[in-house]
Amino acid sequence: MNDRVALVTGGASGIGRTSALALAKAGARVAVADTDASGANDTARSIEDEHDTEALAVEADVSEAEDVQHMVAETVERFGRLDAAVNNAGLESTKARLADYDEADFDRMIDVNLRGVFLCMKHELRQMTTQRDDKDRAIVNVASALGTVAFREKSAYVAAKHGVIGLTKSAALEYAGENIRANAVSPSFIETSMQMRTGTLLRPEQLDEVTSLHPLGRFGQPAEVAQAIRWLASPEASFVTGAALPVDGGYTAQ
Ligand code: NAI
Repeated sequence: MNDRVALVTGGASGIGRTSALALAKAGARVAVADTDASGANDTARSIEDEHDTEALAVEADVSEAEDVQHMVAETVERFGRLDAAVNNAGLESTKARLADYDEADFDRMIDVNLRGVFLCMKHELRQMTTQRDDKDRAIVNVASALGTVAFREKSAYVAAKHGVIGLTKSAALEYAGENIRANAVSPSFIETSMQMRTGTLLRPEQLDEVTSLHPLGRFGQPAEVAQAIRWLASPEASFVTGAALPVDGGYTAQ
């Protein structure tokens, strides 16, 4: 990733933070965007402390078009281009069966987890298509195992993540002619603060139940997702586009 510029949304925490650090370790200059400005700053500082590269923190809400436009513009103003974009920012679902699912919760989930990815891709692609060189450029969206299979009482999250895979495949077709690849990663349950908030990691019964859904017999780690993201974002994956790569310990293989 030397000489490449990467942008990671939701980079203050979990999979986003770990991916930003992995991209920096591979040599990229990295813009870290998040609603959590202090967390984004912290990731940017860690990148510059730990790796021989530059980082930028941007406060942005991916569900706000103006913020997203500004996020891409600030990245390009600082680093001159955009080669790899990781659209990772997302929220966990509230739990309810579909008939009882709160409409405001549904709207918020679609706004951040689906429309947010659409807005990011829109502005990232606008920038990437202006770069008229033959460098490989890549978008990596963070979908979910729940982008291909359902999970009870999480219909809005499941619908949003299925949509993310649809957006990914659409962009792969539409921008292949301009040497821009679009892929998704589909993690299952990963040990991050998101899973702490849903309580899955804290309730032994639920932990056992969810663990048993993984043939590898455990939750994943953020670094295991970050390595897949780093690979898809890099020219090493130059013939891979339109894929949704499971990083799920076999969760969706059964
Ligand atoms: P996390 O909660 O540790 O990190 C999410 C980050 O996104 C936070 O820093 C948060 O401030 C930021 N964020 C939330 N809403 C935002 C918005 N509107 N604009 C900008 N930033 C925003 O969660 P985690 O687990 O690292 O999740 C990252 C992505 O991975 C999400 O898209 C999530 O749906 C997906 N995922 C997570 C799995 C898990 O088990 N942890 C499994 C499958 C997918």
